[in-house]
Amino acid sequence: MKIARQVTFVCGITVAAILPSISGAQSAKPTMKAIVVHEYGGPEVLKYEDAPRPEPKEDQILVRVIAAGVNPVDDASRSPRAAKFFGITLPFIPGYDIAGVVEKTGAKITKFKAGDPVYAYLDLKDGGGYAEYAVATEVEAAAKPKSISFTEAAGVPVVALTAWQALIDKAKLSAGQTVLIHGGSGGVGSFAIQIAKARGAKVIATASTANQNLLKQLGADVAVDYTKQKFEDVAKDVDVVLDSVGKDTLARSYGVVKKGGVIVTLVARIDQAELDKHGIRGTSLAVEPDSNELTEIGKLIEEKKIKVIVSKTFPLADAVKAQEQIATGHTRGKIVLKVAEEPK
Ligand SMILES: NC(=O)c1ccc[n+]([C@@H]2O[C@H](COP(=O)([O-])OP(=O)(O)OC[C@H]3O[C@@H](n4cnc5c(N)ncnc54)[C@H](OP(=O)(O)O)[C@@H]3O)[C@@H](O)[C@H]2O)c1
Repeated sequence: MKIARQVTFVCGITVAAILPSISGAQSAKPTMKAIVVHEYGGPEVLKYEDAPRPEPKEDQILVRVIAAGVNPVDDASRSPRAAKFFGITLPFIPGYDIAGVVEKTGAKITKFKAGDPVYAYLDLKDGGGYAEYAVATEVEAAAKPKSISFTEAAGVPVVALTAWQALIDKAKLSAGQTVLIHGGSGGVGSFAIQIAKARGAKVIATASTANQNLLKQLGADVAVDYTKQKFEDVAKDVDVVLDSVGKDTLARSYGVVKKGGVIVTLVARIDQAELDKHGIRGTSLAVEPDSNELTEIGKLIEEKKIKVIVSKTFPLADAVKAQEQIATGHTRGKIVLKVAEEPK
């Protein structure tokens, strides 16, 4: 205040009037709209508010987020158990899938420059996708496929990487093999069917009655309505099972795999005794960010071998509704939060 009065004396009233805003601009950190979780609980703890805009570290890019994908893990991250498991601390911004435009790069970034369209799977500990700006490393991000919108691209990373790492990295699925994909109409399943077909495999996929046509559109050779038919009556001696359902579905899956075959589950511990009993292999998977794999997936999208099914979008401010939908366990394809207008 003392300084302000002195300056007023020297320079007059105009300078004095703008002083507060100048000093304010110097100290104020840039903010952004975001969904912030301050306490654990149901979807109602998701608050749409102003939050500090992140600054990229030297190994990070700052992304202006156009769209953010919604996944079952986003819903889980609001529980203390999951937060502890992932290393999340309150308060935090949820969301692991983003598509947007690089705004700024850290000193060590070589792969990206400002203006590049990217999509990314953000580390589970850091999240930050439900916001106007998010930071990502070069391992987490890849060039966004040009042939799809940012909204579609935001629905890709987590689920496509999961399907890829389950079928290609873990199960080593090859042409001519048969794979049973549970939950074929959901986020992971819709990509898994298409990745398996692109590999030249035969696909048997399960979903409820309303999603039988979708399974066929995605390329499944055999569609099984789990509400009307036991999958084990149709799928016998398969090479690979991808399980995203667990419980009874996983328990009944060991018996449909041929000797030497493999089960990959996303949602449970594998039962070694069951594996031994059937002479098969099996593993649980925790998806990891992988820029190279995201690039490979992007190529399949550009070649039109993978299409992205976005069944519903919500504005960022409606994240509560989006998480209520994903928590049903019956989402068709992907749901996506629209954060900003699609760039022209
Ligand atoms: N471990 C990991 O790294 C990892 C990574 C990604 C996801 N996940 C987990 O994998 C699960 C699936 O993820 P998502 O993103 O695909 O979920 P999603 O988009 O909600 O899809 C779930 C799908 O499962 C189907 N479904 C429900 N009950 C079924 C049953 N009894 N038999 C066959 N299909 C059934 C639903 O189809 P209908 O509507 O037709 O029933 C729905 O399409 C979630 O639990 C998620 O947390 C784990």
